[in-house]
Amino acid sequence: MSLARAYTNIALVKYWGKRDVAQMLPYNSSLSLTLDKFYTETSVEFTDQAEDQFIFEGQQQPVSAKLMRVLDDVRQLAGSQQKAQVKSHNHVPTSAGLASSASAFAALAVAASHAAGLELSRRELSILARHGSGSASRSLYGGFVLWHAGTDDQSSFAEPLSEQVDFPIAVIAVLVNQQQKSILSGAGMQAAVTSSPYYSAWVKTAEADISRMSAAIADQDIAQIGKLAETNAMRMHATTLSANPPFTYFAPETLQIWELVRQIRTKGLNCYLTLDAGPNPKLICHMQDVSKIVEILNAEIPNLTYTLCQPGPGAKLMTQ
Ligand code: DP6
Repeated sequence: MSLARAYTNIALVKYWGKRDVAQMLPYNSSLSLTLDKFYTETSVEFTDQAEDQFIFEGQQQPVSAKLMRVLDDVRQLAGSQQKAQVKSHNHVPTSAGLASSASAFAALAVAASHAAGLELSRRELSILARHGSGSASRSLYGGFVLWHAGTDDQSSFAEPLSEQVDFPIAVIAVLVNQQQKSILSGAGMQAAVTSSPYYSAWVKTAEADISRMSAAIADQDIAQIGKLAETNAMRMHATTLSANPPFTYFAPETLQIWELVRQIRTKGLNCYLTLDAGPNPKLICHMQDVSKIVEILNAEIPNLTYTLCQPGPGAKLMTQ
């Protein structure tokens, strides 16, 4: 039995659209920060049982096509026919409101490959995780991570920009809504690809954002990182509003918090908002401003539910 742990990540320059759905190749490169507060632990054991088995939070679940894909890849690489027993557990503070496919497939890639006796490089693990979920390719690494869009299966992988983050960036993950997201990210991005007239502009600006964001990270410029992340996120969300039919991941509370974030900036605090395929905003700021920002939010939103995150580590094997 092999057990692995991987942390979730928040994209600062988003992955939004596949140019090859079967191969899981994205249109644009993306850049993320791995967070320290939310992780998945997954164990894998290959046995002589008749079928693959997936137990999530102690309950048997159907084996999804994505899960099967990663297990099949591992079997092919190992030359094995054995079926897998996969057990997975999410460690999520109830207040996190963070997506889990990134941490889930990164942990699966590490555990399943080790259980099959493979010794894969981190690049190979990133590619394997990508086959399950695009954003998982980045959760192999800690800190700031760049996923190169690439042009084929072997050139589309993530690598760390700086795994050790030496400056006080913080992410306040605010929970506004615990409901299951209405349109899953995979479906949402494909709707944008096929029906938004703004999609090509998204790809063009996202690629430019990668170099700007890399420079801001090298400069340890938290305000610039936040500014670029907010603009990038809103451009991503503009492709949902401009899709046909239009849709949005914003909830009323998301807009309320965005408005408050803009007010916070007028007070001279650097605070910026990003969000993924769901209504829960993540606020990017300096560690020293967290309490002031939370105080301002709390004054408007009583019982504000949030988790304070900092840069987190890469995926790791917990068994030897
Ligand atoms: C908005 O990685 O969940 O969070 O590859 O279809 O599994 P699939 O999608 P997924 O999409 C993540 C989209 C995003 C932006 C990001 O994390 O880069």
